[in-house]
Amino acid sequence: MGRVLVTAGPTREALDPVRYLSNRSSGRMGYALARALRAVGHEVVLVSGPTRLRPPSQVTLVAVESAREMLAACRSHWAACDALYAVAAVADYRPRARARHKLKRDPRQGMQLELLPNPDIVRSLARSKGARLVVGFALESRHGRAAALRKMAAKKLDFVVLNGPEAQAADRASQLLLGRDGSEHALGPAAKASLARHIVRLTLGPACV
Ligand code: CTP
Repeated sequence: MGRVLVTAGPTREALDPVRYLSNRSSGRMGYALARALRAVGHEVVLVSGPTRLRPPSQVTLVAVESAREMLAACRSHWAACDALYAVAAVADYRPRARARHKLKRDPRQGMQLELLPNPDIVRSLARSKGARLVVGFALESRHGRAAALRKMAAKKLDFVVLNGPEAQAADRASQLLLGRDGSEHALGPAAKASLARHIVRLTLGPACV
């Protein structure tokens, strides 16, 4: 039994004190994985962006908002963990500046937003993975398999779980689990809790669950 780090949910990138950029992630898949890992005896640190979900019991929840906060929280836990499941839908960009006061509307003209790239959390943590297990997710709307395989190599993942956009915020999904060893498993359609149990079994192996 070991300690596992899970990222989940969307991130929010603030524009001003009341507005942000984000995405439709509900956090369900990450929370389901955290539950499934806990259920087979692992200690779980769940670093989560804002969701409406009830935190799983007996799991350490670290609540964050932005991608940079998520990276900082993950960095502080990663050294003590044996595996990482990066499920979060991290916003790829953030506004260059966060206005101190609410931006005022000007009906006479449009507005341009300048965005900066956010850090890639799983890529950054995987640089120091050593022999540890790193599992990522890939959300693709086309050419899914090829793109997921590219992400697995680029981010040094041991496994990647391919999802379509319809999986976001849904209760059920179909997924493809691809392994660095060339393995391939079609999962679902099934509830995310059931998909999570399969992913845990297939990625950790029968000896570790
Ligand atoms: N990820 C991450 N940090 C980011 C972006 C993504 O840790 N800034 C992780 C996700 O948690 C997931 C994997 O990388 O495990 C792939 O995420 P995805 O959004 O599919 O891919 P991107 O790298 O963002 O590429 P693109 O948006 O171009 O498809």
